[in-house]
Order: sequence, then structure tokens, then C-alpha cells
Amino acid sequence: MMSLPKRVTLFEMGARDGLQNESEIVSAGDKVRYIDLLSATGLGWIEATSFVSPKAIPQLADAGEVFARIRKAPGVRYPVLTPNMKGYQRAKDAGADAVAVFTAASEHFTKRNINMTIDESLETFREVVRAAKNDGMWVRGYVSTAFGSPFGDEVTPRAVVDVGVKLIEMGCDSLSIGDTIGVGVPSQVEVLVSMLAEKIPLDRIAMHFHDTRGTALANVYAALQQGISSFDSSAGGLGGCPYAPGATGNVGTEDVLYMLHQMGIETGVDVAKVRAASRFIAGVLGHALTSKAFQAMEASTQRL
Ligand code: HMG
Ligand code: MG
Repeated sequence: MMSLPKRVTLFEMGARDGLQNESEIVSAGDKVRYIDLLSATGLGWIEATSFVSPKAIPQLADAGEVFARIRKAPGVRYPVLTPNMKGYQRAKDAGADAVAVFTAASEHFTKRNINMTIDESLETFREVVRAAKNDGMWVRGYVSTAFGSPFGDEVTPRAVVDVGVKLIEMGCDSLSIGDTIGVGVPSQVEVLVSMLAEKIPLDRIAMHFHDTRGTALANVYAALQQGISSFDSSAGGLGGCPYAPGATGNVGTEDVLYMLHQMGIETGVDVAKVRAASRFIAGVLGHALTSKAFQAMEASTQRL
């Protein structure tokens, strides 16, 4: 076992992975307010929105307006999802300087999510990544369904590594390896991360765990033990992919922060300020949030 990292970087998913999966369409103004609150927390990476087809994700159809209106805090990056050149151009026009392309290790899921085969997605992204690098942007590549597909087709760790290597070879600066439907367990994380480490420097990999079966925090710990020091998480535990039936929220930012800080691992993030952002968006959405640490903080205030 490696020694644990002293510092961890979090990529905040609430505004993108979170709001894409809400039945309620949040107004542009409330999205801007939510992202501005997140910008004040110390988080260095806040995924802001998606420049995808508004037919695919109507919840984020206002991506251009939201991106243009958020207050860009110094030192904070605001990546956005761009599945094709049309999305890339929209993102560039809105002023983005960090983009993410997204494919998967499951053919079936890729087809449902972006209407492409995995190979077609890689061909499409080659052009997007080339344009982004020419424009001096930072580029992330997602590999979804890394531990299982919502459609039952088999996903092997080798397939995840192969797609990840292709994304890095085409010029992605970093990868996010996604447990889209929250089926992974720590022993699988150990196997997958050690296989990835043979091909890709670990400081270019973030893990993206959904907490559908309650294993996300255990998976974060397993990945930390393997030397991963970047994680995706979502304020309040929002999240899920409308094209992955049954998928629920990302691991809660407050939960990851609680665990890391109690373990003496630094993040630079103020959990009380994340809680304030979560409170705000919970009020907008009108439902409870799943993050256990958020709930615990709220409950202790109520007792005071
Ligand atoms: P398609 O229908 O094959 O695309 O969709 P198309 O090129 O044939 O275009 C169809 C229509 O969409 C056209 O409009 C295009 O102009 C328009 P029409 O002529 O019918 O009026 N269009 C666009 N409009 C705005 N922005 C664009 C764009 N592209 C096309 N970028 C496509 C293919 C990829 C566009 C579509 O399937 C799509 O947008 N999919 C996105 C799905 C999505 O966002 N899923 C959630 C994110 S992934 C996720 O959550 C997982 C992750 O969190 C990691 C994990 O958990 O594992 C990242
Ligand atoms: Mg996700």
C-alpha cells in the first residue's frame, strides 16, 4: 500500500452532473448563484455546464448564458462538457478555457448517451481535442461505465484502460474514470487503478464515483491508497446521468471533505461554504440532499 496523498484536488460536479439529472429545470439565475457560491469555497475546479444537445439534456440548454454570467473567481477553472465540434464552438464563444469530452467503456451506454460507437466518439473527439489544444485550452477525457454498464453489457478493466490511453494519446490533459451507475467496490478500484497506473501517470487521473449503492466513499479511500489524488464529487450529493437508468448522485463533496480533513489530508476547501451552496440549491430544488455529512451539519444546527 502506498502512503496516502497529503493533498487532494476535488472537481465539483454539482452544477453539471447534479443539475443535468434533476426533473426540475433550474433557472439560469439560480444556476449562476449556485456556481458563484461554489466559487467562494476554495474549490479549484467547478464543472459549470454542458454544451450538449438541448434535446438530450434540456436542463442545461442555457449553458451559454450561464457560463457567460458566472463570476469567474481567480484561480478557479470552470470546465464544460463538449461532445462534438458544435458544442466546442458554443463553449468557446461563451468564453470557456477548459473542456471535457466524454465516452465510455460500454458500447451500449455510449450509443445511448451520445449516439456514437466508442470508436466514432474517439474520432469525433480527435477534432475537438485538436481545436481545444490549438486554442490553449485544458482538456479532460471521461471514461464512463468503468465498473459496469446500466444495460448489462460486460465492461472489463482492460477496455477502460484502452479507452483512457486513446484519450490521453489524442491530447487530453487528464482523465476522469467514472463509475456512472455506482456499482464498483474497493477491490475493483484497486485492480483498475493499478492497471491504469501501468500506462498513465496517476496525477493525470481523477476518479468519479456515483454513490448508488453506498460504496463511493469506500472507493475513494481505495483509490487514495493506490495513489490517486483527484476526485470528482458533488455538493450535497446531487447527480446522475439521464441516459444511465437507475444512476443516482455523485459522492457528496461534504462527505469527501469530512473524511479527508479528519484524516489530515488537505483540500483547501471550506466545508461550511460548500454547505451554504448546497443549502441554496436544496431550497431551489425543493428536495432533501443525500450527502450524509451535509445532513449531519444541518441536523446539528437544528439542535442548537
Ligand atoms: P445526435 O442526435 O446524434 O446529434 O446527438 P446530431 O449531430 O445528429 O444533431 C442532432 C441535433 O442536435 C441537431 O439539431 C444538432 O444541431 C443538435 P436539429 O438539426 O435536430 O435541430 N446538436 C447540438 N446542439 C447544441 N449543442 C451541441 C449539439 N450537437 C448536436 N453540442 C449528441 C449526439 C452527442 C449531440 C447528443 O447525444 C448529446 O448531446 N448527448 C449528450 C448526453 C449527455 O450530456 N449526457 C450526460 C453527460 S455524460 C455523464 O453524465 C457521465 C459523466 O458524469 C461521467 C460518469 O458519471 O461516468 C460525465
Ligand atoms: Mg457522472
